[in-house]
Amino acid sequence: MDSNARGSWSGHLGFVLAAAGSAIGLGNIWRFPYTAGAGGGGAFVLVYLGAVLLVGVPILVSEVVLGRATQRNPVGAFRAASGTGGWPLVGYIGVIAGFVILSYYGVVAGWALNYLVTAASGGLSGMDSVQMQSMFEDLTSSPYRQVAWQALFMVATILVVSRGIEAGIERASKVLMPLLLGFLLVLLGYALTSEKAMEGLSFFLEPRFEDLTWTSVLAALGQAFFSLSLGMGAMITYGSYLERRRSVARPVMTIVAMDTSIAILAGLVIFPLVATYSLDPSSGPGLVFVVLPQAFLRMPATSLLAALFFGLLVFAALTSAISLLEVVVAFAVDELRWTRGFASWVGGGLIFALGVPSAVSSGFFGWADRVASEVMLPAGGFFIALFVAWVMPVDVAKEGYRGREGGLRWYSQWRFCLRYVAPVAVAIILLQNIGLLD
Ligand code: TRP
Repeated sequence: MDSNARGSWSGHLGFVLAAAGSAIGLGNIWRFPYTAGAGGGGAFVLVYLGAVLLVGVPILVSEVVLGRATQRNPVGAFRAASGTGGWPLVGYIGVIAGFVILSYYGVVAGWALNYLVTAASGGLSGMDSVQMQSMFEDLTSSPYRQVAWQALFMVATILVVSRGIEAGIERASKVLMPLLLGFLLVLLGYALTSEKAMEGLSFFLEPRFEDLTWTSVLAALGQAFFSLSLGMGAMITYGSYLERRRSVARPVMTIVAMDTSIAILAGLVIFPLVATYSLDPSSGPGLVFVVLPQAFLRMPATSLLAALFFGLLVFAALTSAISLLEVVVAFAVDELRWTRGFASWVGGGLIFALGVPSAVSSGFFGWADRVASEVMLPAGGFFIALFVAWVMPVDVAKEGYRGREGGLRWYSQWRFCLRYVAPVAVAIILLQNIGLLD
């Protein structure tokens, strides 16, 4: 199959926005601020930046290089680059991880969609905080309503992916990413001028080295990994639609800078609000759906601000969901020779069905999340790093990095981190997560 039949990005900008869309998700807006607040504030943020540069960037580069060099989905990429051996298994783990992650990601995104529609139609104004609390409980205890919102979200995801790389994914990213940034900046204006903004900011950013434990260092590594969408071939797949002329260094650094900035901006919005309205900053999963809405209730333009916030969450989740479904669809298109439309509806439909148990049972939800993000992603990332650093022929990796006409800027630093730093760090996370380190 020639590369035109698979589709491609119109240029580097399309790739950068789509990949940033994949990276920027629920992980940035909910998980990062909360983890940083609990894990040492500014000290955590510093460790996180180190983890992004020394582990996240090298693995992101290697996914993009592997995808671009082979122009294949994760399974096909390993097969094409390795010739023999069990390496395509790593690609299969990635495709399965895409299935599992999107199944419960769609449930959470469905909650956000429900809140967005409620806020935008004025349903939040006049609520008190008890009603706000029970709104979340009512929603999450009604399988029927959750599944309906999840279905709506999945249909939106399928519609984008079925239209293809440039007309679907790239176009959606070019609309959603600027909107997301715009919404975030409006909220930032409100947050930074709120009464106790400074108190919130110092909780978020003041380095508390005494709170920085071994566990929070590992949490920073895991967060960098999840936030950059690594370990399951999402970036292999997106890299496979990238032209092969210029170096990957600059687009990758742009993606990382965007993902990291949005995470920090989200913290700059959330903590001032949490401090001003005396909310609990370390309330876990409820932070975004129960605690933060309390702040909106007490702010002047409740419906508008809440709609902006939940719109932000839905857009972030949608561009991430698109990348998760694309891994499955690229596999079906390349390997099973399905048409894109058929693969999108069948793949998306099966993922939706797998998500139903997560909507019904929070135990199943937590289990799916742990298996995928604590075991499958680090295992996938470990083998991807190992493969590109030690197995793939050096000249193929080098050409994949620089392209036909690009330069080798940062190449040797990338290679060094990929060979010696990243595999060790990821192996430690994996061993810790499967309980072999303590
Ligand atoms: N990076 C996204 C977030 O921060 C989640 C995500 C999308 C993801 N695609 C992924 C995580 C692939 C791991 C692998 O929410």
